[in-house]
Amino acid sequence: MAEIKTERLDGYRRLIDIARDLASTLDLDILLSRIVHAAAEISGAEAASILLYDDVSQQLYFQVSTNMDDATRRGIIVPLDGSIAGWIVRNRQTVRVMNAHDDPRFFSNVEDTTGLSTESLLGIPLVTKNKIVGVLEALNKHKGKFTDTDESMLLVLGAQAAVAIENARLFQQSDLISEFVHELRTPLASLSTATYLLLRPEMSQEQRSQIVHNIHNETIRLNALASSFLDLARLESGRVQFRKTVFSVADLIYECKDVMASRATEDNIQIRVESPEGLPLLEADRDKVKQVLLNLLSNAIKYNRPNGTVLFRAEASEKDITLFVQDTGLGIPEESLPHLFQKFFRVREHESRVAGTGLGLSICKQIVQGHGGRIEVKSKIGVGTVFQVVLPRASKVTPKIEEVDNK
Ligand SMILES: Nc1ncnc2c1ncn2[C@@H]1O[C@H](COP(=O)(O)OP(=O)(O)OP(=O)(O)O)[C@@H](O)[C@H]1O
Ligand SMILES: [Mg+2]
Repeated sequence: MAEIKTERLDGYRRLIDIARDLASTLDLDILLSRIVHAAAEISGAEAASILLYDDVSQQLYFQVSTNMDDATRRGIIVPLDGSIAGWIVRNRQTVRVMNAHDDPRFFSNVEDTTGLSTESLLGIPLVTKNKIVGVLEALNKHKGKFTDTDESMLLVLGAQAAVAIENARLFQQSDLISEFVHELRTPLASLSTATYLLLRPEMSQEQRSQIVHNIHNETIRLNALASSFLDLARLESGRVQFRKTVFSVADLIYECKDVMASRATEDNIQIRVESPEGLPLLEADRDKVKQVLLNLLSNAIKYNRPNGTVLFRAEASEKDITLFVQDTGLGIPEESLPHLFQKFFRVREHESRVAGTGLGLSICKQIVQGHGGRIEVKSKIGVGTVFQVVLPRASKVTPKIEEVDNK
């Protein structure tokens, strides 16, 4: 008895440390990873997971687990009806089961991805200010079954975790919104000057049409800014779920080339494709990968020299597919390279030459990293730039441990 008491006391002490730890970060990915590790530790479980609930789309997303890496993250929508987590969201109650597979609510798709066979499960709702943020689950108790103490400790952790998640999300949004508003100021200022000038009686017809032309360009830019900003805000909040399918990269490459063909012709740029025969299939969100490639191609055209070329090629290794977009353009100054993937960053020398929002590459980076891949750049002033995107061929990088199937 005394032993149990000390154990419990140690657990609560540990909870205080964890609370401090959670409060010290506003980075959502780091935070979620700390929460699941803490949850597994304090409940004596083999693994723990978090599912986040998006009240706008009313969907539940499997977000992070102790036993999987970044590559498998954010892949799965978990149905509200037909899953234990969904039941927890709807009923805002704790669930404790000895064998999850015997539970009629059990949703097995998550297990196929994480490769962990679930036996015992303790799940709690993450609630803050009466709003449900998600579900925290501890899986497979090391010894025996989950106890009342495990449950109350997990509830204390969950209450802290819910607040920390809300804070991190709010912080991300406020940060992004203030940057967005800052970026809005320049085009709005030029629109207001333009309309002021249009109202002046002394303006000639020729000047007027020039001003109208400027207004038209600024509104196009504002529109692009708004949609890119929305894309990025969704990606950064971790609420984007990638809809993975298996597809041919070679087909996608030609499709992207076709989309960009007329823009390339306008600028006298030639796009050359090199993709090896028998390039393997890729498992990823096709539309999102297309978005990445189109932005890289559009950059390679925009920041090229007249009569330049763009070489678009792919390579496969056992685990990855690498895509290269290489141009013969202006190049990027070395001191700008570390800032290239930051929001709104544009190379100063390019700003006056071509329009852009400076969000394209940030979006690319979020998408590529969300797939467990990476994006890199090499550039030489006056010679050209090459962007390289490495994507894992399949997102299921965690080997599935074959367990006795007791479904
Ligand atoms: N291929 C390239 N060659 C030279 N500079 C580049 C190249 N690609 C990107 N850059 C530089 O990086 C900056 C950021 O690129 P990014 O795609 O994020 O934004 P953008 O092209 O300015 O805007 P948007 O993508 O919204 O049209 C660009 O403004 C440009 O200065
Ligand atoms: Mg761009």
